[in-house]
Amino acid sequence: AKEPVRVLVTGAAGQIGYALVPMIARGVMLGADQPVILHMLDIPPAAEALNGVKMELVDAAFPLLKGVVATTDVVEACTGVNIAVMVGGFPRKEGMERKDVMSKNVSIYKSQASALEQHAAPNCKVLVVANPANTNALILKEFAPSIPAKNITCLTRLDHNRALGQISEKLNVQVSDVKNVIIWGNHSSTQYPDVNHATVKTPSGEKPVRELVKDDAWLNGEFITIVQQRGAAIIKARKLSSALSAASAACDHIRDWVLGTSEGTWVSMGVYSDGSYNAPAGVIYSFPVTCRNGEWTIVQGLAIDELSRKKLDLTGAELTEEKELAYSCLS
Ligand code: NAI
Repeated sequence: AKEPVRVLVTGAAGQIGYALVPMIARGVMLGADQPVILHMLDIPPAAEALNGVKMELVDAAFPLLKGVVATTDVVEACTGVNIAVMVGGFPRKEGMERKDVMSKNVSIYKSQASALEQHAAPNCKVLVVANPANTNALILKEFAPSIPAKNITCLTRLDHNRALGQISEKLNVQVSDVKNVIIWGNHSSTQYPDVNHATVKTPSGEKPVRELVKDDAWLNGEFITIVQQRGAAIIKARKLSSALSAASAACDHIRDWVLGTSEGTWVSMGVYSDGSYNAPAGVIYSFPVTCRNGEWTIVQGLAIDELSRKKLDLTGAELTEEKELAYSCLS
């Protein structure tokens, strides 16, 4: 039998946490033959709710779940974890300036970076979900220098999956037949959902999305806006932000990272930029990646047209500005 993998979920008493922990305990994240031990962290005001989640995990009698640590102690939460999914953060409240939200999250991610660096298992893989996701991940990277930069990522898979979903609805095809969309840049409204290399499996072979949709105005306009604004549309409809889709995307992200992407398919991940595609280096930027043996690699050599170039630069500039704002909060 396989040794259990320890998976940390921070902000586990929140709404994404509530959707995510049962998925992990059912094997959605790491496979149906992989036992897990869940580490759940939240802050003291949420301690009782967190304990309620732990009670429900016991009540669900998940065969793969070999243990649950539910705590408000960061060190206890981080000790020995192989995978860390960072969902906890400070939300933007009415009347708050962007800088205030940034400042709160910078201090959270700075202290949690140290705890992970000192207490997590060697080679721990980190996924930051909490917003501003790219910049929180960057702060985590900066303050955990002994964790390799390649182990620190942020979630843009939800945006990637939203793009697949929109193409599937537009063409009335199975979502599983659509692949290789790309989310470039920031997990924010400046992200660029790119279909220029995306394809659909059809009875007569793989066809480019652009050839099938035959509506460049929609692809270059409404499609992009729908994906960029989908989070806001969910809040409007549900009066709560996306949770089940975010949890599911977090599982997709880790599963593909650990178990690999399938041949000919790439996914989007926010990773530490080396300046590929002339994106700014030294920020966490979402790229198309393939994964093998637990490591991601940026897909190289894709053609970038003029419209795309502008959009890659715009979202890159926003990330550079967020980085500066984050640093100004530190000093
Ligand atoms: P929520 O407010 O329901 O839950 C957040 C939880 O984090 C709360 O239980 C809170 O007590 C906890 N928390 C706050 N500070 C903490 C700390 N220092 N350590 C540990 N836990 C802490 O929020 P929800 O809906 O679960 O969303 C969580 C985050 O995910 C938000 O920042 C949201 O913006 C972000 N998000 C990101 C997405 C993405 O695609 N990257 C998609 C959807 C949401």
